[in-house]
Amino acid sequence: MSGNPTQTEAWKALQAHQTQTRGQKLADLFAADPQRAERFTRTLDGLTVDFSKNHITEETVRLLLDLAVAQGGEDWRERMFRGDKINATEDRAVLHTALRAPTDAPITVDGHDIIPDIRAVEARLAAFVEDVREGRWRGATGQPILHIVNIGIGGSDLGPRLVMGALRAYASGPQVHFVANVDPADILGVLAGLDPATTLFVVASKTFSTQETLLNARTARQWLVAALGEDAVARHFVAVSVNREAVEKFGIAAASMFPLWDWVGGRYSLWSSVGLSCALALGWNHFKALLAGAAVMDEHFRTAPMAQNIPVLMALVGVWYRNFRGAASLAILPYSEGLRELPRFLQQLDMESNGKSVDRDGLALDYATAPVIFGECGTVGQHSFHQWLHQGTDAIPADFIGVRQDDWGQPEHHRVLLANLTAQTEALMNGRQESDLCRTNPGNKPSTTLWLDRLDPHRLGMLLALYEHKVAVQGFVWNINSFDQWGVQLGKKLAEEALAAKG
Ligand code: F6P
Repeated sequence: MSGNPTQTEAWKALQAHQTQTRGQKLADLFAADPQRAERFTRTLDGLTVDFSKNHITEETVRLLLDLAVAQGGEDWRERMFRGDKINATEDRAVLHTALRAPTDAPITVDGHDIIPDIRAVEARLAAFVEDVREGRWRGATGQPILHIVNIGIGGSDLGPRLVMGALRAYASGPQVHFVANVDPADILGVLAGLDPATTLFVVASKTFSTQETLLNARTARQWLVAALGEDAVARHFVAVSVNREAVEKFGIAAASMFPLWDWVGGRYSLWSSVGLSCALALGWNHFKALLAGAAVMDEHFRTAPMAQNIPVLMALVGVWYRNFRGAASLAILPYSEGLRELPRFLQQLDMESNGKSVDRDGLALDYATAPVIFGECGTVGQHSFHQWLHQGTDAIPADFIGVRQDDWGQPEHHRVLLANLTAQTEALMNGRQESDLCRTNPGNKPSTTLWLDRLDPHRLGMLLALYEHKVAVQGFVWNINSFDQWGVQLGKKLAEEALAAKG
């Protein structure tokens, strides 16, 4: 179905195309085509992606689409959505999309329809969320829950953390705090400001075997028990996991465990019970709106023609830079304080998924895969590493993400913020010649601009699903398994061995 992409005609054609277009200036592409901005912009339901400031022409896109087709991209996409076990090294389906499926049309894994399971867990989550928010679920002393502490790491932390930052304006329930690092400074810092009587811990760990999370959860448990006694644990701890046995062993009853399934990858798990902390703060309806937004992107990704398909185009532009123009990194630059956590979220999504050097058959790759993902909020990054973007020796592709609507009633701040976004993309593209080279911005540096009409649950869901699918398509093209993460096991094992040796 797919093999080494470098052996395809499309790859060779892209190499030739790169040689022919080397030295091409973005400014000249705009000058030659007054319609360029529109030609390379795609819009879907309040999300606009402008690819025009990239080193691409219609010919580039055509050749990249040929590559995606040659690598069986459409076929892999369909296999993913229908639940084939495309995560072969773990013998698992990849069905985070089923968690946001808008209809009850069956999706089967091993002959079993998983949709009723998803709906049953959703119903439990929704009921629990309402109970906590309406004060029916109370702490051991009878007080309502005012604070949630989400204890988790990686996918059990980054997604919920990002959502809470982005949707602050929608939060109306208990306040959510996050603990991820095993450095005690993290948990002690959070606990210091809390009252055990009004605090609920959500221990989120798909495997319930992650050392950092379990240690933090034990520390939290001791803190609670010291104040309220052992019996209080049942009212102050819930778990999110696939591993019921380990949850019970920890001392959380199965009735207080919200499951997910092995066909949900950790870094794709926000949409599952892992989103519980967010749902508690935002309310079930807003959490469902997040899922519905992601579902709109799923539908687009699954059905839109390749040339119109936003995740496909984004993925292929990334492949173009990574494999044909030698770019080793990608900057993620949200011009939105709410999206501050986006670079960190995308680091795990992209680099844990596609940080691979063997193909699906276990053969060593002779081509590059995931770039380094880094980033910072605009305008903060402008006063830090943007110098490197403007005048450094590398051309770094960058995703600028802007939000059109001002949610804070501060038009002047918003105008300044967005003026800076636009100015940065123009400065990168056009540069400016000065009398001496030290002051000259060479320009011709690429960027993609993503606009959200609003930073609401729906658009946020769309944005995150867009990046998920982008990463998947790149994995399809590179013929790698984007859904395992064997590389992180060794470090975990060595840490355990070192601890065991010290007794
Ligand atoms: O870092 C490896 C990893 O397995 C991630 O893939 C995952 O998101 C994280 O650890 C946390 O895993 P868990 O949810 O099982 O605690």
